[in-house]
Amino acid sequence: MPVKATASDAAERAMRSTLLTLSHRKSLGNLATRVPITRPMVRRFISGETLEEALPAIRALHAQGLGTSVDVLGESVSAEADARAAAGRYPAVLDTLAANGLDRNVSLKPTQMGLGISPELATETIGGIVAKVMELDGFVRIDMEDHTTTDATLAVWRAIRPAGAGDRTKGDVGVVLQAALRRSEDDVEGIIAERGRVRLCKGAYKEPASVAYQDKADVDAAYERLMLKLMREGNYVGLATHDVRLIKRAIEVAKAEGIARDSFEFQMLFGIRRDLQEQLVASGWNVRTYVPFGSQWYPYFMRRLAERPANVSFILRSLWRERGKS
Ligand code: FDA
Repeated sequence: MPVKATASDAAERAMRSTLLTLSHRKSLGNLATRVPITRPMVRRFISGETLEEALPAIRALHAQGLGTSVDVLGESVSAEADARAAAGRYPAVLDTLAANGLDRNVSLKPTQMGLGISPELATETIGGIVAKVMELDGFVRIDMEDHTTTDATLAVWRAIRPAGAGDRTKGDVGVVLQAALRRSEDDVEGIIAERGRVRLCKGAYKEPASVAYQDKADVDAAYERLMLKLMREGNYVGLATHDVRLIKRAIEVAKAEGIARDSFEFQMLFGIRRDLQEQLVASGWNVRTYVPFGSQWYPYFMRRLAERPANVSFILRSLWRERGKS
């Protein structure tokens, strides 16, 4: 029934758009992070408010054979002191991970590190974290935010990438490309030539049609094109998706073309498709879970709701149950 499908697609798109708009409302974020009723739902996607709270989850993932990349939540800071404070948390996180025998692998948001204040500030703050990662032979991933930050983020990555980086046995800093953005087809060429480490995702932000595909089918097709290119020519690509069709396609191509299992990894988010994460590890594929923690969880959480409107009914059902208890 095509008419019905179109109507529900439109409703889903409207819901997604509303949730992404709300994700930028700082006042709502301040309110949400104060209301305890939201906590059980938030804990589905956020491993804890502190690293101590997150550590058991990180250990459990390692025990199951999964790698991790730890994100100290935060983004869009507008004061230099906040950017420096956010960057200042990472060395201690890396030391704790190393001391616990866990992956020295972290992810961070450029606007959390001051990109919105100045690219120079972000270069300095992220550069400091990269220096620490190099000491520990670890890895730092610069997440990609909305399209207005893409050029500046890639420029910061190029400025701080250590000489001789690209060898997987040493420390490195990698970037993210978003299949939804039309420009990614060009960006991927340059990064492959530089032996840069790419995480490929679909893209979590609300973007205009001038720069991004709007239809899911177009985003998925772009993901597949970029994925195959990076698997064939890239440097240890991270395939960040929960899309079973794309994951099956990656496996099929790896097997058919003899692409080594240790030349790429799957990446998924904490709390999403754990069954699939475990299944892939059991089948001998490398999988890394992105593990966010911290008190600044609101925008991240809202993007997770936007990705799957069914999550909203899950939240509403939980809220209803909570209400019944009070
Ligand atoms: P898609 O949205 O098509 O979902 C496929 C299936 O996965 C769904 O049918 C559902 O089963 C499951 N699923 C997906 N999202 C879910 C959710 N929130 N709740 C429950 N089930 C869900 N984006 C970005 O712009 N910049 C970045 O730096 C990153 N970094 C990043 C790291 C990692 C490790 C991952 C996995 C993702 C990102 N993303 C990101 C987010 C990414 O762009 C995208 O928004 C989400 O991964 C959802 O897209 P999928 O590829 O999973 O496909």
